[in-house]
Parts: sequence; C-alpha cells; structure tokens
Amino acid sequence: MANDMQVGISTSADIVTARQRGRELASELGFSGSDLTVLATAISEVARNIIEHAKEGEVILEPTHNGSKQGILIIASDRGPGIPDVDRALQDGYSSGKGLGLGLPGAKRLMDEFKVVSEVGKGTTVTMKKWVR
Ligand SMILES: Nc1ncnc2c1ncn2[C@@H]1O[C@H](COP(=O)(O)OP(=O)(O)O)[C@@H](O)[C@H]1O
Ligand SMILES: [Mg+2]
Repeated sequence: MANDMQVGISTSADIVTARQRGRELASELGFSGSDLTVLATAISEVARNIIEHAKEGEVILEPTHNGSKQGILIIASDRGPGIPDVDRALQDGYSSGKGLGLGLPGAKRLMDEFKVVSEVGKGTTVTMKKWVR
C-alpha cells in the first residue's frame, strides 16, 4: 500500500501529477469506477485554485479511516492571499477572477467531507475526505 504523498503545486503539470497520484492511491484503497474520476476531478479543482489564486502550494494525499470505513484524505494548502469570505467562495458561480466559480462548490459536492480554512494574508487549506462505498 502506498504511503502518504505530497505533491508540490506550481505548474499545470503538477495538477496532472496530483490527480494521477490521487487516482493511484484511491485505487489501492478500494475506490473504483466513477469514484476514481470524481476524486481526480476534485483534486484537479483544488490544485488549480492553488495555481490560479495563490501561485503555489501543495496537495497531500493519504489514507484515512473512521471505524471500519476506509477512505482518502486530501489536503490542499497554500500560503497565498487567503479567502475573505469562504461562504461566498463556496457559492456556485462566485469567482473573484475570470473563472466559472464552480471549482470549490463542485469539489464540495463530490466529496463526503469538505472544509475550507482560510485567513487573509496567510493562506488557505482545503481538507476533504471521501469514503470507499
Ligand atoms: N487557494 C485559494 N487561495 C485564494 N483564493 C481562493 C483559493 N481557492 C479559491 N479561492 C477563491 O474562491 C473563489 C471560488 O473558487 P472556485 O469555485 O474554484 O472558482 P474559480 O476558481 O473559477 O474562480 C475564487 O474565485 C477565489 O476568489
Ligand atoms: Mg477554481
């Protein structure tokens, strides 16, 4: 079983790496079919946000458990500008830039657990989990 993985994010190639590693780990953990695609999509969105809104950061991928439940934990973090209003950022269609504003709310819908902790001037950490069905 693969160990925890940390992928530095500063180019679009890093997004591809993060989603591939995530897919590999998820597959080893027992995810299959459309859940692998769902996880890759959520990883892409949070990694893309790092590049577009914070320039650089990292994505950590690791196995997680809750009782007998097995799952994947994904932590995307950066020391970028932070998000002044997290609730607004989680609304469909809100973008401070030229994006579609669907990345964060989309990723939230795709995952079982989703939390954004952000402080203006300090950075942003998105923590998300999905359980094997
Ligand atoms: N890592 C981040 N650092 C700073 N701001 C962020 C970050 N991720 C998201 N945001 C803010 O939240 C908004 C919504 O994100 P998202 O739904 O992905 O939309 P989009 O990326 O298309 O603008 C962004 O427009 C941006 O203002
Ligand atoms: Mg986005």
